Amino acid sequence: MKIDPSQPPIQASTVIRNIGQLVTVAQQPIAGATGALQVISDAAIAVHDGVIVWIGPNDHVEPMFQHDTDSNADGITIIDAQGVVVTPGFVDSHTHLIFAGDRAEEFHLRRGGVSYGELLAQGRGILTTVNATRSADTETLTDLAISRLITMRHYGTTTIEAKTGYGLDMITEEACLRILNNLNALETGPSYEYSRVRVVPTFLGAHVVPPEYRERRSAYVDLIVEEMLPSFVGLAHFCDVFCEREAFTFEECRRILTRAKALGYALKIHAEQLSPSGGAKLAAELGATSADHLDYADDADLDGLREAGVVATLLPGCSYSLRSPYPSARRFIDRGLHVALATDFNPGTSYCENMQMMLGLAMSSMGMSIEEALQATTINGARALALQDIIGSIEEGKRCELALWSIRDYHEIGYHFGINLIQSVLIA
Ligand code: NIG
Ligand code: FE
Repeated sequence: MKIDPSQPPIQASTVIRNIGQLVTVAQQPIAGATGALQVISDAAIAVHDGVIVWIGPNDHVEPMFQHDTDSNADGITIIDAQGVVVTPGFVDSHTHLIFAGDRAEEFHLRRGGVSYGELLAQGRGILTTVNATRSADTETLTDLAISRLITMRHYGTTTIEAKTGYGLDMITEEACLRILNNLNALETGPSYEYSRVRVVPTFLGAHVVPPEYRERRSAYVDLIVEEMLPSFVGLAHFCDVFCEREAFTFEECRRILTRAKALGYALKIHAEQLSPSGGAKLAAELGATSADHLDYADDADLDGLREAGVVATLLPGCSYSLRSPYPSARRFIDRGLHVALATDFNPGTSYCENMQMMLGLAMSSMGMSIEEALQATTINGARALALQDIIGSIEEGKRCELALWSIRDYHEIGYHFGINLIQSVLIA
């Protein structure tokens, strides 16, 4: 990129210079960038009002920027990246952030051969966490959520989706949604100082049928459809359901999601996780933003998802934790789907905040290349939240949500494993 002297200098509040490899993951060709990830060597970025306003060669940076007259006369904040790799911050598009208690005991029972489905059928599993969450106060749940967000950020995540689903009654589901919204109230909430990670709230009232409705499950579906969904408009962006033998039937899920869609929610589905459930077909039929898990999805399911523009979100942490076969990401990509990777952070099937771990598992066990895995954890995570025009890549006009790594070549990601390669994140 050449500087045009007839152009006025660009106004910027922050310049990050001396970036060894800028892995933009841009969706449009960028001048001077190469490869599937549109990488620029020896690059710099300028940011204003939290938005990326310029990307270019490091040696063009000096004459380009004028003092930001709105800031307090200190001029531009210059950050020297000292030659490291910079990527978009991770977008973790599937988490169950908010719960109390843990299920370590069940994890070890499963090592002994008891299945996840058996535990659930015994009234354990998700219901263990429902009991703990209902008993916890708002302050405890908030503190837990904040500390988890800080851990996520430490490993490079800058945006997450966060589901309810451990309250399963009007009061606790609403309390959890309000906590999630407060985490996101950046200007005023406590998370501004503590996390600044963007949180996209999802209502997952249809996680399992709570014990008090076991003998009258249709009354619980009525409660979701007639009371919870209308009350939570504006508190949750997405509505999700767990479409599974042990959870909700295809017809129950269709009824819930159809109502949610009519009320203006965007849709997600836990589909084909433990058995073929029909969730993928429902996702295609209703135009869900993403269908998640998909371990048992067949080729017709994949074609339906692709035709309907539904993002396929794969969750390798579950395969790791449940010791079930990893879905082949290769199969999804070769059939033309957008594949996102997420942690599915939750106390049962994937107690892991770390997106680098998911990236590593996807490369070691799901047939993904480093380029595909980086796309899956950034721009495709953003697609799974319908935020691809705002975040997920480093392009002019997008929000500044960056991960600074302690490496000089992105090919070290996944190769040097089991440690945290993130130096810091920058959320402007
Ligand atoms: O995505 N499948 C349902 N929900 C979670 C598990 C939640 C839990 O076990 O607490 C999942 O795997
Ligand atoms: Fe999940």
